[in-house]
Amino acid sequence: MKTEIVKVDPTDIVSAEVSLRRAAEIIKNGGLVVFPTETVYGLGGNAIDSSAAAKIYSAKGRPADNPLIIHIATPADAEKYTYTCELYYKLAERFMPGPLTVIMKSRDIVPCQTRAGLSTVAVRCPENPIANRLIALSGVPIAAPSANLSGSPSPTKAEHAADDMLGRVDMIIDGGECEFGLESTIVKIEDDMTLTLLRPGKITPEELSELCELRIADAVTHSLKSGEAVLSPGMKYRHYAPKAPVLLLDGDVLSNILYIQSDTEKRVALISYSDDKTAYEKSLHSVDIYTLGARTDEVSQAHTLFALLRDLDKRNYDKIYAPLPEKRGIGLALYNRMIRAAAHRIIKTK
Ligand code: TXA
Ligand code: MG
Repeated sequence: MKTEIVKVDPTDIVSAEVSLRRAAEIIKNGGLVVFPTETVYGLGGNAIDSSAAAKIYSAKGRPADNPLIIHIATPADAEKYTYTCELYYKLAERFMPGPLTVIMKSRDIVPCQTRAGLSTVAVRCPENPIANRLIALSGVPIAAPSANLSGSPSPTKAEHAADDMLGRVDMIIDGGECEFGLESTIVKIEDDMTLTLLRPGKITPEELSELCELRIADAVTHSLKSGEAVLSPGMKYRHYAPKAPVLLLDGDVLSNILYIQSDTEKRVALISYSDDKTAYEKSLHSVDIYTLGARTDEVSQAHTLFALLRDLDKRNYDKIYAPLPEKRGIGLALYNRMIRAAAHRIIKTK
């Protein structure tokens, strides 16, 4: 398949109209379009067309039991696809449009393929003007997983999406770098009107708890034991993992240095907070050091992480060390992605 790449300026959505209309036609006709959102690039198709959903799974190489998020142009559109409730509108008023996905009971109009046979469906109303306008012009909800091949880090730049999706989709809309860089926060509305956090993101547990009782699913911070029930199918799959083993260091700079110095691998990379870079450089001469952002600047860490993992993957390291994030605020989202990239290998160096 030939993939058309179209550049669109998210700050000039009026000039983008012609391109976005063409993209919307592709979606309406059952094709696939990669588009930017405020979190990561999405691989979009008509959510209420089961054959478009099937194409998405095949383009991504995604297991058919891992459901898709349906993207809507305005929060009230959720009414057409799910059974909403007061709590949904409370969440919508506070966080939408934006990086929050809400899981509710599905209406029959959403094909089984889109929701992987579950009785629930995930909805999200993105804030990125390109994404939002594309959905509105399509006139249908857009099912969109992250636009990476299954298992690799979500794309935060069009080039990353193209690396994975060229020849597999009809169009890639290049709208520059995604603002946040990690996927949306996912919550499920339970029957008793409490929330379960299934995937942490920019909208933090602390913020959500201000509105409603919130439980954090075990799989957010722990590996699943064999046979354990999984609330979100995506949690059971290996994710974000570069080819080289990633190890998370739980210690201070000195204890981490002593640990890495005892490593006999040849090509070692270290992901460090910018605050610690000089100290590491002084002691670890044969280790390549990459910065994630300042220790307390979780927003820039989130923005950098996936692009950095993709970059490191091309450099063929034998091993990659990275810091273990704090499980607070946006730190929880970084922790969740990094323990998956590291296959839960955490080393206490202190
Ligand atoms: O930021 C995002 O959410 C991006 C952009 C493109 O919007 N999309 C995204 O989609 O990250 P995806 O498919 O890569 O991740 C969606 C996750 C999967 O882990 C899936 O298992 C889970 O959401 N999910 C979807 N529907 C669900 C449902 N009904 N119940 C439980 N988990 C669900
Ligand atoms: Mg994904």
